Amino acid sequence: MIYLDNAATTWPKPESVYQAMNDFARNHAGNPGRSGHRMAVESERRVAEARERVARLIHAESPDQVALTLNATDAINIAIKGVLRPGDHVVTTHLEHNSINRPLAAMAETGFITLTKAASAPDGTTPPEEIRKALTAKTRLIAVTHCSNVLGVVNDAAAYGSLAMDHGALLLLDASQTAGVVPIDVQAQKLDLVAFPGHKGCFGPMGTGALYVRSGLALRPFREGGTGFAAEHEMHPEEMPYRLEGGTPNAHGLAGLAAGLEFIEREGIRKIGSHERDLALRFIDSVRRLSRVTVWSGRAPDRQIGPVSISIQGAEPAEIGARLDREFGIACRPGLHCAPGTHRFLGTFPKGTVRFSFGYFNTAANVDEAARALAKVLGD
Ligand SMILES: Cc1ncc(COP(=O)(O)O)c(C=O)c1O
Repeated sequence: MIYLDNAATTWPKPESVYQAMNDFARNHAGNPGRSGHRMAVESERRVAEARERVARLIHAESPDQVALTLNATDAINIAIKGVLRPGDHVVTTHLEHNSINRPLAAMAETGFITLTKAASAPDGTTPPEEIRKALTAKTRLIAVTHCSNVLGVVNDAAAYGSLAMDHGALLLLDASQTAGVVPIDVQAQKLDLVAFPGHKGCFGPMGTGALYVRSGLALRPFREGGTGFAAEHEMHPEEMPYRLEGGTPNAHGLAGLAAGLEFIEREGIRKIGSHERDLALRFIDSVRRLSRVTVWSGRAPDRQIGPVSISIQGAEPAEIGARLDREFGIACRPGLHCAPGTHRFLGTFPKGTVRFSFGYFNTAANVDEAARALAKVLGD
């Protein structure tokens, strides 16, 4: 199998991730923070390590500003539902994943908030100027993706951060496609809220994610419950990160996430990002020569990372994806990629595109094989 679906979840993981999870499950899997015995203490140490490494990855002021979540969707819901108040206005874009679209759409439908979608550019970026034009006196939140999961083009997070700060609004950055791949510095880039999964670019397993909350920003808790301390109080603790966490965490997964983040620290995030960009651009260069192919990605080459979307004239994305899998052992993802607005923007709704998403463990040979397989499927 040549796995080119890293935008959905990365595979394989570094060997150290499998080892850390195996070791944790066999030797350290007490309930973290709940009991005083050695296994519980060791378990808590692994959870704390994951939190510390996430904080280091994004240059958070402190690990306490990082709530550990189930995935990016969980983190985004905690952020959106924790900050918005009745009557607030939110600016977002047409290129968001449903994890941002749907919570905002549900709140707008009940009249709790009003919503404006800023225009995006033909290269798949959303220019900060377009966001600025959509701001009103009531804008409390700008919720925007760092990188379209359909197109793989990275937006200017620092420009969004400054814009939000100047306007007195909050910025929620969906870093699902960029965390672990593109450098993020929440302090230098003035980011208030950053949500991402652990299972994509951070190389952790599924069931892990994180939400960074700028210090001084108090979100309404999304859930209340046991935190392992201050059990005598009727009310859930107000301190971060426990304010936004409750119940036993996915400590098995977090042990893996800590190992994934350690791998990134060892390899270097710039090396990882530039490898993915090189592979994506190599693929784009090959397949754009095929007669029936339209390539939607790569229109801002210096901002490109792993995900690449294409359309094939006269062929259904689902059929192409199925043939690549069945006949050539190539895993890609046809369809809407949970981002229907992006496909309306491209004109590829409702069938979507075929997305090939390259990861750190892919090679130039994988890219060439995928391009050859596609040419055969298309009869070129
Ligand atoms: C841009 C973007 N946001 C959010 C998500 C949701 O991630 P998760 O499935 O971890 O909740 C994804 C997943 O593909 C994504 O690409």
